Amino acid sequence: MGAKIASLSFQKPKWVVLQVTEKCNLRCKMCYEWGDSGSYFHKNDLRELDIDVAKRVLEELSEAKPYLELFGGEPLMYPHLRPLLEKIQEIGCMVDIPTNGTLLEKHADLLVETEVRRIWVSIDGPEEINDAQRGKGVYQRALRGLRAVAAAKRNRNAQYPLLGVTMVVTPLNYRYVESFFRGLLEEDILDNVSIEFQLYTTKERYDDYLQFVKKEFSIEPDASSMAGGLIRSIADFQEVDIDDLTAQVKAIRELCARKKVNCIGYPKTMTHENVERFYKGDWEHMTDKRSKCSFPWIYMEISANGDVSPCHTFYDVCVGNVYRENIMDIWKGSVYQEFRRKMRNKLSPICSSCSRYYSDL
Ligand SMILES: C[S@@+](CC[C@H](N)C(=O)[O-])C[C@H]1O[C@@H](n2cnc3c(N)ncnc32)[C@H](O)[C@@H]1O
Ligand code: SF4
Repeated sequence: MGAKIASLSFQKPKWVVLQVTEKCNLRCKMCYEWGDSGSYFHKNDLRELDIDVAKRVLEELSEAKPYLELFGGEPLMYPHLRPLLEKIQEIGCMVDIPTNGTLLEKHADLLVETEVRRIWVSIDGPEEINDAQRGKGVYQRALRGLRAVAAAKRNRNAQYPLLGVTMVVTPLNYRYVESFFRGLLEEDILDNVSIEFQLYTTKERYDDYLQFVKKEFSIEPDASSMAGGLIRSIADFQEVDIDDLTAQVKAIRELCARKKVNCIGYPKTMTHENVERFYKGDWEHMTDKRSKCSFPWIYMEISANGDVSPCHTFYDVCVGNVYRENIMDIWKGSVYQEFRRKMRNKLSPICSSCSRYYSDL
């Protein structure tokens, strides 16, 4: 991996996430932003990315043409969705949108018209189970949204957006992975399925992380630190029947292969041993373990307040702000270079709580 990182050109970002709003219309229990212990739960001054700034940033990225992702909160709540998507289309970038699906029906035509590449709807199990985790009525709204986009695609004879469903597996819903996807896949409207374990970190690891950022970057995160929203107790996961869960995931992966539906998720390796280590917080001994990360060489994430961070979990480190600077200057600038130099051979104590930690980089 060292040679791979060293050889990665960082002349151009390959993947840029724009957090368009911090607001969300749901309060999903496991969410590191808006869940019971989420980092936004008590936040008052909720931000939205200024549309003129967002358009300028897109112009600045137009030569690099990274793959884009809109993020939230709930990105479909962004009041300037149409001009933003039209600008993305104009500069010729591909864009993904993860969404809770509740506003999909309303925006179905727009998403097809502007050729959004992929929509990932988060649904966490069959109706009763999903709604226990995400709120009453959410399942039906998300399903109506998926069907509306599928219908809008048919009407226009359009290939995009590809449709995906993401299920975050928690102790509350893990028994329903197989039955949920079996039912959903019968609709034959999905192109992608993602089975993602609830990410978490322990209080001990988070404390180590605080020491780490203080020492390396002279930062002392406050209560709104995103990483703080991931703290859970290992005891919360000990009732999960690992054999049952791994067998269900295997069955769905096989079904997806037969139906030619792309199936991804994390952790990638779903053996009993690997899942047990995940739920024991023994990340160092997992099969997918990493010792370094290539994201600082390919990635940027723009928060709704304009801050640019090098990763999806490590938000406390800011390498610039798009309200004041050109995004490509931030990308090439000394602060980001210094971050790359410091992180070349290491991970932070919370990197194992990042979804990207488990993916092929
Ligand atoms: C934070 S949400 C933002 C987008 C949108 N509101 C949604 O729900 O899809 C992005 C994704 O993170 C997932 N998520 C939330 N908390 C999580 C956690 N602790 N571990 C893993 N994924 C989580 C959500 O289910 C969703 O699929
Ligand atoms: S809809 Fe998304 S951002 Fe909102 S609470 Fe649920 S997971 Fe979090």
